Amino acid sequence: MAEAAPERWLRDFAMDPNDPELLADPYPAFALLREQDPVHWSGHGYWVVTRYDDVRAIVMDRQNFGQGDFERNIRLLYGEDFDVFAHPAYRWLADVFVFQDPPKHTRLRGLVTQALTARRVQSMRPRIQEITDRLLDKVIAGGRMEFIHDFAYKLPTAVMCDMLGIDADEADDDLLAALNKAIQDSFLVLEMRPLPADELKLANDQILFLERFFKAVFDRRRREPRDDLATALLNARDGGSGLSEWEMTTVAIALFGAGFETTAHMLGNGLLTLHRHPEQWQRLVDDPALAASAAEEILRFESSLTMTYRTAFADTLLGGHRIAAGQRVMAMLGAANRDPRVFADPDVFDITRDGPRHLTFGGGIHFCVGAELARIEGAIGLATLARRLPKMRVDARAPHWRGVHFRGLIELQIGW
Ligand code: HEM
Repeated sequence: MAEAAPERWLRDFAMDPNDPELLADPYPAFALLREQDPVHWSGHGYWVVTRYDDVRAIVMDRQNFGQGDFERNIRLLYGEDFDVFAHPAYRWLADVFVFQDPPKHTRLRGLVTQALTARRVQSMRPRIQEITDRLLDKVIAGGRMEFIHDFAYKLPTAVMCDMLGIDADEADDDLLAALNKAIQDSFLVLEMRPLPADELKLANDQILFLERFFKAVFDRRRREPRDDLATALLNARDGGSGLSEWEMTTVAIALFGAGFETTAHMLGNGLLTLHRHPEQWQRLVDDPALAASAAEEILRFESSLTMTYRTAFADTLLGGHRIAAGQRVMAMLGAANRDPRVFADPDVFDITRDGPRHLTFGGGIHFCVGAELARIEGAIGLATLARRLPKMRVDARAPHWRGVHFRGLIELQIGW
């Protein structure tokens, strides 16, 4: 007889996308660990941390926790003989600044935030509204759409292309769809699990495709500078030095990718959750000005990214357990966001909720550089949907989730 889920989760928890109960709803597992074994040693060789204060302490504590040795971290998943840097997808990932520690991280993040300024992000508001309206104009007469592909994926992609100055001449609809698929296939290397050979090969091929595309964009901007983020990245300087060609390509893929599925699934998870709580959807329809606060509650309640991870730099005590130097720790953002020690009635979805901040964008030196952009896209997207499609019906039966680390829907049919 199959082992009951709770026992399985308490014995050796893994973010296993093949666990049907976890995939359908990870929150019972998160609650069980948080209440019964909040600093859990998983049989898979890492700690799983689920309480808000512990998760926050880990992401804020740059003294004792960081990224550590990338090659070693990946070998912990695949075994000692694994040739990490023979794989283009891991070669790329090693150089993305989210996986680096100071001083490398500080320099790269500084150069990126010089280009991705608050002013540049705020100035996108009218464009984000235009893009949102254009996407709805295309489908509104049809009375229905598959929300994930017809809207949720297209909005952050179009916004990031707009910021990078990539227009229809540089990427038509087919190329954009191919770029999105390449991001999905290659970002699997971010998940803390060994990928089967076919998934790893696909991730490698797709990262090479993305590298070729972005290198060509930067070559063109070097010849013909424009007022866009791609040109701003070319011009960013730290003392005398700027981003190398490889760093620029790496960063562009990271920006394009990090803001794509996470933002798309914030919208998809949002519509599903709003329609599982019809009174909350009605509140939003009655007052679309609640959209920013609704986006915040969606990020807390049904986050599109449920975890991040760190390596302990030194032996550290956490929740009465000794985390040994070199050990890996999964910081479960999605579990922390429902911690009753911090949030009143954490399993209640309330778009007017006020109070402590969720941890969905992380914290400390790696705090999400795209948080403000994602918030604006969430607020404009939800307000516009509530205003233009107030009678929306969402098919919320048996949703098909794509993963537990990146939590989002494979499709979502809506009508109006
Ligand atoms: C709902 C949408 C989003 C979510 C849930 C999200 C979540 C996160 C989280 C949790 C981190 C911290 C990771 C860690 O501490 O290990 C992070 C970092 C990052 N995010 Fe986001 N993100 C979102 C949107 C975006 C967007 C739109 C962009 C790009 C414009 C972006 C770019 C980045 C980058 C580059 C980092 C690395 C920062 C660093 O290491 O210093 N993200 N994000």
